[in-house]
Amino acid sequence: MADQGLFSSDLISPTVSEALPEGYTARSLRLADYDAGFLDCLRVLTTVGEISKEQFAERYQWMSSQDTYYVLVIEDKGKIVGTGALLVERKFIHSLGLVGHIEDIAVAKDQQGKKLGLRLIQALDFIAEKVGCYKTILDCSEANEGFYVKCGFRRAGLEMAHYY
Ligand code: ACO
Repeated sequence: MADQGLFSSDLISPTVSEALPEGYTARSLRLADYDAGFLDCLRVLTTVGEISKEQFAERYQWMSSQDTYYVLVIEDKGKIVGTGALLVERKFIHSLGLVGHIEDIAVAKDQQGKKLGLRLIQALDFIAEKVGCYKTILDCSEANEGFYVKCGFRRAGLEMAHYY
């Protein structure tokens, strides 16, 4: 079966696709992206660890069996140069409201400053709105606040954590 990706191409914003640099594509994560540098792209963000192709496939299949994970990538010449994820949380409150969570935004070092980060956020915002989220939230460092403000987010609340 062809590798269609985690989610439908109907959820890719046409406006974002048009705004990308020539030759770049925004699309869903695919199983084959293991060999296209997806994990290396994420290494710009944090420690990824050594993940085998089988382990990647297992996690990918689990995500694709849920209606929750929208992992987006930007590809250039067969290589993943940017990625970001939207998780859709299903609540009881707000009349069974849906909340989008933006996670794991990363643009390859040599590709930063080309508005790819902005396009990732715009593309994830588009998905969130289309699937029915009433808001989207994210956590970030002080150093990245300016980036998210340029993407239209504003400071709201305070992040807290318990590490295990
Ligand atoms: N602080 C302030 N402004 C910023 C920052 C920053 N850290 N980074 C970018 N900007 C500005 C740019 O100058 C640009 O402004 P302009 O429109 O006036 O020209 C605008 O934000 C859009 O910038 P992009 O070119 O889209 O940014 P880029 O493609 O470089 O992506 C990103 C930004 C994602 C933060 C990238 O630098 C990166 O991958 N960093 C390492 C990983 C990381 O920190 N990811 C975010 C973690 S938080 C999370 O995942 C929820």
